[in-house]
Amino acid sequence: MRALVLYGSARGDKGVTGRMGRALIAGLEQGGASVDAVVVKDLEIAPCVACLSCMHRHPGRCAQRDGMDELYPLLQAADLLVMAAPVYTDSMSAQLKAVMDRCVCAMQPFLYADQAGRIRHPMAWAMPSQTVLVSTCSFPEYETFAPLIATVRAQAVGFGGQCVAELCVPGSLALQMAPTELEPHLELIVRAGHELAQEGRVRQTTLAAIQRPPLSVDRFRELAGRYEDWCRKRQAKAEKNTEIC
Ligand SMILES: Cc1cc2nc3c(=O)[nH]c(=O)nc-3n(C[C@H](O)[C@H](O)[C@H](O)COP(=O)(O)O)c2cc1C
Repeated sequence: MRALVLYGSARGDKGVTGRMGRALIAGLEQGGASVDAVVVKDLEIAPCVACLSCMHRHPGRCAQRDGMDELYPLLQAADLLVMAAPVYTDSMSAQLKAVMDRCVCAMQPFLYADQAGRIRHPMAWAMPSQTVLVSTCSFPEYETFAPLIATVRAQAVGFGGQCVAELCVPGSLALQMAPTELEPHLELIVRAGHELAQEGRVRQTTLAAIQRPPLSVDRFRELAGRYEDWCRKRQAKAEKNTEIC
């Protein structure tokens, strides 16, 4: 198996999705997969301009020349796409959305009915057949992921594949105040990577354990309270500096 990990946070791989992505890579590699990893923000990828040159003039080829030129060959070579995509306003980051929109050049303009009877475009070139979502969000409730999960599942189907696992851990606002509290989940994500590489799927027991939020709402509130105290101090300091200026 060959996997491509896209770190989609505006903070690159420095945040919580970075830690989760590295855990998955460790498991994938232990299971024998080869992995490419890319920090999307570093590639400075422009949004799709909807010129549709890729559909009407040069099938399979985007008209824009930028960081996507580095990604297209990696996407074409990978069996598994890992989207390390934190929740940004109930969706994915603009950086990652730009990548997915720019993959429209993988589609032909023609139409067909897929196995489920949905009308879709056939592919000019194959995107990875499997997608895995790795995500976190500030808030402590797992439901926060619902819109992003729906989007990633629909994108995977639209590109002719399927989303095989969602590894989503809520509560990053508090987890960043107490980074060790994420460690048991990171171990589970390593296991998930190993299972993916070896069996092409994540076992139900592993998925269920990852989906259990690491922090109770009470523990989240306690840690978030420390964060709020830090914010108050920071704002007071900034206000004081403004007065001096
Ligand atoms: C622009 C922006 C929008 C965000 N929107 C949400 C949101 O809708 N819900 C949520 O729970 N967290 C939201 N967050 C918080 C991020 O999901 C959280 O900070 C996460 O840890 C970022 O991933 P990273 O640590 O890998 O950078 C948002 C953060 C940013 C910067």
